[in-house]
Order: sequence, then structure tokens, then C-alpha cells
Amino acid sequence: MYRWARGAYLWPQDGDVHNLETKIEDDWPGYSLDLFNYPAHYSGDLDCVIVPHGVIMDRTERIARNIMDDLGDHDIVVLCVLKGGYQFCADLVDRIKALSRNSNCTIPMRVHFIRLKSYLNDQSTEDLHILGAEDMSFLAGKNVLIVEAIVGTGKTMKTLLKHVEAFKPKMIKVAGLLVKRVSQNSACLPDYVGFEIPNRFVVGYALDYNEYFRDLNHICVISESGKMKYKI
Ligand code: HPA
Ligand code: MG
Repeated sequence: MYRWARGAYLWPQDGDVHNLETKIEDDWPGYSLDLFNYPAHYSGDLDCVIVPHGVIMDRTERIARNIMDDLGDHDIVVLCVLKGGYQFCADLVDRIKALSRNSNCTIPMRVHFIRLKSYLNDQSTEDLHILGAEDMSFLAGKNVLIVEAIVGTGKTMKTLLKHVEAFKPKMIKVAGLLVKRVSQNSACLPDYVGFEIPNRFVVGYALDYNEYFRDLNHICVISESGKMKYKI
């Protein structure tokens, strides 16, 4: 893990992290929605495409290789953080499986699912619920790979790490598809990061706004009218 300090990353140790060129800048307008296919039921609800589905898939393939380089020939327990992480986890596991089939190096994997819930509308709430994580004594002495879709303030990740550490795994690594640049990010950041993105509310590729937009392939910025339409 590496840390965010006074608005900047502390430079990671060699081999710690592989993502220094995947930063999406604050002033990047994203791709026009007209350039891509997306379901008609979301027309008007989105501002732009920030990470197209194909780019997510290509980046995921590379993260799988980085994980393979670091952890190859170790058994791992993949801890998929639902609901937002289901798509990234499924695609990442799929790529690791492909590498395991096609090289001499393999990673035997078990997959476990837990559910975290802390968002209402586009705001993080104080009460974080961890479901399906009551007894994870099977993690004792294991190499654990936590797979998350998005890391915002890092508070959720920090709470989850503390919870997992209590079960005494041998090693914990974290893969996060997205890391949001938020000023208050003082907690932990993932070992493997897909993209660092601006502090905007994004949806799609299993990320939701009040349970909507999980059925969208691309990662998009939600529009103000989209927020109004699905507000609760
Ligand atoms: N979108 C969806 N879920 C989230 C986000 C986001 O931008 N940040 C934290 N959880
Ligand atoms: Mg959510």
C-alpha cells in the first residue's frame, strides 16, 4: 500500500505500484456519448464517457499480468467487494485464469464475496455495512487479493483492511479499478490501480447511483438531470 500525503502520493517503492501513467486529468472533458453505444434508457442521464469499456478491458488484462508477475505460483483468495466490484472482479479473475492456462506460472484462486454499503445518492454516509464478512477465519495464513471497483476517500478501504487483518492472512493486496482524486484522501490506496480519476460521481461497469447504471458498459459521468431522475 502507498499513501496520499498533503495532496500528493508519497513516491511508491520500486515494484509497489504499476499505475503511474493512468491518470485522467481534471480538465479532461471525456468522450462524447455520441461516439459510443449505450442503452437508450439512459439518454440524458450522462455527461460523458470517462473510461470506455474496451479501455477498461485492456487495462484489466495488464493488471492481471502485474498480479501474475507479483503473485504467480501463490494460492490466493480473491475477496470481491460487491456490488460495484462484481464486473471488475469477474473480468480480472477471467484474465488471471487465461494467463494461468497459457503460461508455466499459475495462480490457484478461490473467490469470496462480501458486500459493502455506504452511499446514498452521490454521498458517502457514515455507517458502513460489511455483509458476508462475519466469519472469515478461512483467511488465516492465506494471500488475499481484495478487488474493489472504486476507492474514494479511502475510509471504506481502511475499515475493510482492518476487518480483514483481524483474521490474520499472510498477505493482503488490493486491486482497485478506479481511484478518485479527493483532497481528504489520507487513508490507504490500492497496490494495483486501473485509473486515477477526477473527483466526479461516475457510474457504469457495475458502479451505481441508487442501484441504477450497473447495466452500462462504459464508465461515465452522471449528469445533473440523471441525479435528479434517480434520486431517493
Ligand atoms: N460512483 C459510484 N459509486 C461510488 C462512487 C462513484 O463515483 N464513489 C464511491 N462509490
Ligand atoms: Mg454504490
